[in-house]
Amino acid sequence: MSDLILIIDDEANLRRTLAQILRERGYAVLEASNGVEAIELLRHSIPDLIFSDWKMPEMGGEQILRYLRDAPHLAMIPVIVITAFGSSDSAIEAVRLGAYDFVTKPFDLDEISLTAERALAHSSLNRDVAELRSKAGHNGNPPAGRLIGTSGPMLEVFKMIGKVAETDSTVLICGESGTGKELVAEAIHKYSQRKAKRFIVVNCAALPDHLLESELFGHERGAFTDAITRKIGRFELAEGGTIFLDEIGELSPSLQAKLLRVLQERTFERVGGTETIAGDFRVLAATNRDLEATVAEKLFREDLFYRLNVVRISVPPLRERRSDIVTLAEHFLRRYSEENNIPTVGFSDDSILMLQAYSFPGNVRELENMVERAVVMARGRVVMPNHFPTRVETGQSGSSREVQVDLFSLPFHKSVAELEKHLIKNALRDAAGNKTEAANRLQINRRLLYKKMVDYEIKD
Ligand SMILES: Nc1ncnc2c1ncn2[C@@H]1O[C@H](COP(=O)(O)OP(=O)(O)OP(=O)(O)O)[C@@H](O)[C@H]1O
Ligand SMILES: [Mg+2]
Repeated sequence: MSDLILIIDDEANLRRTLAQILRERGYAVLEASNGVEAIELLRHSIPDLIFSDWKMPEMGGEQILRYLRDAPHLAMIPVIVITAFGSSDSAIEAVRLGAYDFVTKPFDLDEISLTAERALAHSSLNRDVAELRSKAGHNGNPPAGRLIGTSGPMLEVFKMIGKVAETDSTVLICGESGTGKELVAEAIHKYSQRKAKRFIVVNCAALPDHLLESELFGHERGAFTDAITRKIGRFELAEGGTIFLDEIGELSPSLQAKLLRVLQERTFERVGGTETIAGDFRVLAATNRDLEATVAEKLFREDLFYRLNVVRISVPPLRERRSDIVTLAEHFLRRYSEENNIPTVGFSDDSILMLQAYSFPGNVRELENMVERAVVMARGRVVMPNHFPTRVETGQSGSSREVQVDLFSLPFHKSVAELEKHLIKNALRDAAGNKTEAANRLQINRRLLYKKMVDYEIKD
């Protein structure tokens, strides 16, 4: 089904041109010549994206934005505001009021379709989130939206979220990869007074430095070669809402300095701009690094660290809250069965045991992927141990009680080390602790075996 776009503009020619362009690109289009007409249309159809003129008689862009924001089922629809060229005031005002973006008249066709595409991608993401949230709501369970967990450590996390949500404190969310840091950030926003405003995510590791800077702070037209138009940065987009800086440990020294100032003064300038912009945003940050260690190594500014670490939430790895494994597995089973239209059955007892015994180096994300795959493989039958990857099975077999890890997911040296450790332990066990015999089995000399045993702290 093609995406539905609503265009609101009182200038008939302009509206029709835009509608035609969008139809040619495969979108379904609805047209309204003013806000009142638009609201009438919105009673029967919910578009995926809205283009709206700013200045219109009767009901202008500003009122339309306010109307949408207050309607729960419409608040998610991205709105691209059409403004006259050069009227940056209305553009900024529009973005402040929650518009996704703006385009200027006269139209640049490529710019328009690009903006529409981006907005639609954004909107489908939001829809998924909304759907999941409403599903979670029906069961009446998960206390923090989509965050599932009943273990002691997770209840502590929920409590922390509850305590800090209402405040404007900066929160540093720490935890291994895949533990749910982003969900925690979303929950903080969702339970805050800022919930009607945006939750803006920036992955600090995803962009090279100069691009990240203009992504965060925006840039003026002509600030650098590719800066054809003015760009509103993420901090500005987060106005009134929350900005989530993910993978904060990867920030370069120069951006660390800039961020420090933003946190201290709540002001910034667009790249290439002179105007100082004061913003109202709440900052949440996350890292899977040991940030204290990074500070000790002088790779991360200590003053910035303290600014971020006002409140800290540590999300524990899954292996430290094993009682959540089954709850989460069942949640993912329901979710992926529904998504794939496969009837939900359940897990066999031995597959549950297997999950409970596994170490989950990739945490909840690994469990989620595993269950998704198992659902597809089981095709409506009970999920059995053989529907999980072999690494999980070997974890349960009890042949060695040490932590099982997915060797292929580790950095090279670590995985080689893990493998050596594993081979040596097995050889020692098979040789009943006799080192000469174990060295023979491994076809290495005894001295090397001793050295490795010391290196890896393997006791005889
Ligand atoms: N408590 C939870 N309840 C439900 N789903 C969860 C939970 N924790 C994590 N997930 C799911 O696991 C996946 C990974 O979570 P998320 O992206 O929040 O992890 P992360 O800590 O940000 O990881 P990374 O450091 O790799 O970015 C997501 O699909 C998320 O929905
Ligand atoms: Mg993340």
